[in-house]
Amino acid sequence: MKSITIKKTQSLKGEITVPGDKSISHRAIMLGSIADGDTTIRGLLKGEDNMATLKAFRQMGVRIDEHPPQADGIVAIQGKGLHALKEPEDFIDAGNSGTTIRLLTGLLAGQKFFSAVTGDQYLRKRPMKRVVEPLHQMGAKIFGREDGNKAPLAIVGSKLKGITYNSPVASAQVKSAILLAGLYADGGTTVAEPTLSRDHTERMLTYFGAEVKRSGTAVSIAGGQKLTGREIAVPGDISSAAFFMVAALIIKDSELLIKNVGINPTRTGIIDILQAMGGDLKIVHQREISGEPVGDILVKSSNLKGIEIKGEIIPRAIDELPVVAVAAAYAEGTTKIRDAKELRVKESDRIGTMATHLKELGIQVTEFDDGMDIVGGRPKPPPQGAIFNSHGDHRVAMSMIVAGLATERGITISNTDCIDTSFPGFMELLEGVKRI
Ligand code: S3P
Repeated sequence: MKSITIKKTQSLKGEITVPGDKSISHRAIMLGSIADGDTTIRGLLKGEDNMATLKAFRQMGVRIDEHPPQADGIVAIQGKGLHALKEPEDFIDAGNSGTTIRLLTGLLAGQKFFSAVTGDQYLRKRPMKRVVEPLHQMGAKIFGREDGNKAPLAIVGSKLKGITYNSPVASAQVKSAILLAGLYADGGTTVAEPTLSRDHTERMLTYFGAEVKRSGTAVSIAGGQKLTGREIAVPGDISSAAFFMVAALIIKDSELLIKNVGINPTRTGIIDILQAMGGDLKIVHQREISGEPVGDILVKSSNLKGIEIKGEIIPRAIDELPVVAVAAAYAEGTTKIRDAKELRVKESDRIGTMATHLKELGIQVTEFDDGMDIVGGRPKPPPQGAIFNSHGDHRVAMSMIVAGLATERGITISNTDCIDTSFPGFMELLEGVKRI
């Protein structure tokens, strides 16, 4: 198990680009595989999560070539069309990736074959009922531990019918699983959610030629629609950029330009939050690429203040809340995070892990079921020999590295291999902008 010791740095300066968006990368592989004709993807994230999705489609007979194999190059997919995937001979292993297992479960439910999907020790603890239950309503036959709530999941491909589903959670994974099943269903399928979650699936389905209708927070798709392969450029992941935004804000004399970042409004909660905290962040050079808004983000160190974060902004910033907690620890005053119960069922219990870690830095944190209060100030150096465990959670690991960059004596984070699930090259990129 790797660990990282990070020392306090004087400032961060320079221009960077972060790797491709994880959510968009998953969807590009999935839709490219079931489209008719070729899809070429530029800037695909080659993190472990996305490679799990890529391997799954190779197991189902899709030809996917990487040019060149390792680097940031082009990934070429020979789409098989909606109905020509083949039965995988073995388990599909989603690794640590909730998006892989949940979206695939929707897509596999309507195939003409049997499949089984599992994941690592962390993923096997996460709830699957949220997708299995609506898919059952569509006629899917899905079995799993704890009455279908935990992986491994066994999926007996079946004939599906469209439904209207009111999701109790604002979850893009739930919405996307149902929409993908809806592509294979008879009739129309509608998913409504309490507040809008990231809409990359809807945008990419449209980009591939499907008709998707939106009305408020409800989205509908008619079954049987053909997708057509396309060229896609994946923008940088705002969730990865977030670590650099917070780092540059809390470390004095810093200035970073983060280029080519996806700024889809369903994902930019982090920018709104950090600006409301007093952060000097500007989006420049806005444009649209492959149906997604993109921009460069200029960020300069700032004095942050505590704010209240709740309601519709939560799904727009859900993956960034661990690093927001770090920003809050360095802000003046109290930051209150609420309506974020979903954090408890992410790669780790992110409320519990972040609260414990920030307390070790002398920060006063009060935990609530759906959030926390963080009383900001100058975090203290951790006790001698203290080691912060990531609990196998990439975003906790990177958030604590950001905290360590601004802490006297620095800190040590253990169990950091998980960073590669979403951000291979994170440490190298960070080292490149550190000015000691
Ligand atoms: C994702 C949706 C979100 C997010 C996850 C990626 C996606 O999860 O936290 O990292 O790509 O659809 P939920 O759907 O559980 O909110």
